[in-house]
Amino acid sequence: MSVALKNEEDIARMRVAGRLAAEVLDFITPYIRPGVTTGELDRLCHDYMVKVQDCIPAPLNYSPSGHRPYPKSICTSVNHQVCHGVPGDRKLKGGDIVNLDITVIKDGYHGDTSRMFLVGETSIAARRLCEITWECLWKGIQAVKPGNHLGDIGHAIQSHAEANGCSVVREFCGHGIGRKFHEEPQVLHYGKVGAGLKLQPGMSFTIEPMINAGKAAIRCLADGWTIVTADHSLSAQWEHTLLVTATGFEVLTVSGGTPAPPPLR
Ligand code: MF3
Ligand code: CO
Ligand code: CO
Repeated sequence: MSVALKNEEDIARMRVAGRLAAEVLDFITPYIRPGVTTGELDRLCHDYMVKVQDCIPAPLNYSPSGHRPYPKSICTSVNHQVCHGVPGDRKLKGGDIVNLDITVIKDGYHGDTSRMFLVGETSIAARRLCEITWECLWKGIQAVKPGNHLGDIGHAIQSHAEANGCSVVREFCGHGIGRKFHEEPQVLHYGKVGAGLKLQPGMSFTIEPMINAGKAAIRCLADGWTIVTADHSLSAQWEHTLLVTATGFEVLTVSGGTPAPPPLR
């Protein structure tokens, strides 16, 4: 496996792209209310990225092999949708949980981040799933330091999810990121301590656990993109883009509105 290390110039540009991706989430937050359609959220984010930030929305027409081109500029995954939910006419309603996943390209570099949003009054179960998933992301982040292995990240996430009666989606993972949207390494959200690639300063990748309240199995909808839980249980996801530093990690997808890390028990 060849994992390119980022130099100081790469890192400076990755910081900018990461901040801009996070700022799209800050921008869209007040619009995520009962009655708004996911298509309207897509249009608002698209215009902000293109006209205000002078960025390219990386998902638009993204065409990994075996897929039709992705038709929108962001992903909106509601309730039992796991990831890659395609924005459209669906109206959000009170009680929904929705993930917005934003990837921008700025000066040739990608920043990739997602958050969960609670729409109106949500159930205790929905809020708990979002919180556990946020903790899973941060358990993974805290395993990021030189000398640790990718398996340490996966193990930390899997342990926390399963200890709370939730399951980890296996088919999608975090990924190296830089000039390319998805590059090596694959960052699995399950695994064994000490397994896999050893981390080195200058690596940059995302961690983006998809955690289901029910079983881990997924299906893909007929649109070719939207992934849902097979058992229709709720699913949540949070994502940050990280840099491995000499002493640990730097979160690249930070903005004024980035939620503070959870108190980790
Ligand atoms: N942003 C997603 C990720 O975290 C990928 C979305 S690909 C798309 O890797 F085509 F669905 F946008
Ligand atoms: Co990603
Ligand atoms: Co993403």
